[in-house]
Amino acid sequence: MKKLRVKLDKRSYDVLIGQNLLDKIGKLIKSRNTGNDIFIITDTKVASIYLDKVIKSFKNNGFVSIASGIIPEGEENKSWKNYEFLLHQLLDFDKNLDKNIVVICLGGGVVGDIGGFVAGTYRRGVHCIQVPTTLLSQVDSGIGGKTGINLGVVKNLVGMFYQPCLVIIDPLTLQTLDKREFRSGLAEVVKYGIIKDPSILSLLENHVNDLLSLSDMGLIEKIIQSSLNIKSRIVEQDERDEKDIRVVLNFGHTIGHAIESASKYKVYKHGEALSLGIMAAFEISSRLKILKDKNFQGRIENLLRNIGLPLKKNISCKNYAILESMKYDKKFQDGKNKFILPVKPGETKIKIGVDNKIIEDILKIKI
Ligand code: GLY
Repeated sequence: MKKLRVKLDKRSYDVLIGQNLLDKIGKLIKSRNTGNDIFIITDTKVASIYLDKVIKSFKNNGFVSIASGIIPEGEENKSWKNYEFLLHQLLDFDKNLDKNIVVICLGGGVVGDIGGFVAGTYRRGVHCIQVPTTLLSQVDSGIGGKTGINLGVVKNLVGMFYQPCLVIIDPLTLQTLDKREFRSGLAEVVKYGIIKDPSILSLLENHVNDLLSLSDMGLIEKIIQSSLNIKSRIVEQDERDEKDIRVVLNFGHTIGHAIESASKYKVYKHGEALSLGIMAAFEISSRLKILKDKNFQGRIENLLRNIGLPLKKNISCKNYAILESMKYDKKFQDGKNKFILPVKPGETKIKIGVDNKIIEDILKIKI
C-alpha cells in the first residue's frame, strides 16, 4: 500500500493507494477513530458491485451501525433533489442527532462531489472519507475538497470546500469500470502531463495499450500516484482556489465544462469534453502565439486520439450553446473569461479576456 499525505494544517489527511483496499476498508477506518456510525453514499451501479463487500468489511471489523443512501448514476443526478434526498436519508439514520457519523463516498466524481457536500453541510460538517472508484475520481476529484452539485445545467455552481479526513483508492475497482469511462479518466492524466510533468506524457505515450487493457496494475498505480502528487502539491499551496495557483488544474475545462453543460451532460463524459477543451486551449494558445513548442499540439492530439478520446465535437452540441454556457464559468472575472493556455510541456500561462471571436472560430473550424 502506498501512502501520500495532503498537508493542510489541521485539515491534513492521508491518501491510501493499493489493490484490495476495499476489502480492508473496515480495518483501515477502525484504526483511525473517525466515527462509529457509517453512512455510505453511493450510486446504483457502484452499489450493485461493491456495496455488499464494503458493508461486510465494516461488519467484520465490529461496526454495527451502518446505513446507505443510494442515488441514480450520472452527472445529471448531481442535483439539488438528490442532495436533499441524501440529507433526509442521513437524518433518518441519525434520528436523535446523537450519532458519531462518518460519511463514506463510494463511487465516482458525482458521488464524491454530492457526498462530500452532504458531509460538509449536515450538522455543519461530519467526517467524510472519499473512496473513489473511477479513474477520474482517483486522479482528480477524490482529493482536494471541492464538493457540490449542479444547479440546472450549470456545473458545480453550489458547493463548498470540504476536505475529507481520509481517501482510500483501490485501483482494482477500475476492472469493473466501462472502457469509455476509463478513457475519460485518462484525459485528466493527460492534463497533469501538460501542465506540470511531461514524464507522464511519455509514460502514457509508451504504454497506452497496457493502460487501456489494465494488464499492468503497477502502471495504473503509478499514474494515479503521479497525478495525485501533482494535485496535492497544488492544493497545499492554494486550497481555496484564491491565488491563481490551483486554477491551473482547470486547464482544458473552460470550454470542456461549457461543452458538457451545453449538451446537458447527455452527450459527453467529463473527460471527453475535457479532451475537446484541451484541443481548443491548444488552438487558442497557438493563435495568440503563447504556445512556444510547435510540436506540442500535434503530440497531444496524437495521444488523445490513441487513447480514444474525441478531437472534434459532434453536431448535437451547438456552438452558440457552448458560448452561452461559458458565461457561467466560475473563473470569469469582471465579465472576462480566464483561460489556462499551454506554453510548452509542463508550463502554462493564464490569459484573461480571450476574444470571443477566436473562440467562435475555433468551435466552428477546429474542434
Ligand atoms: N478539479 C480541479 C480542482 O480540484 O481544483
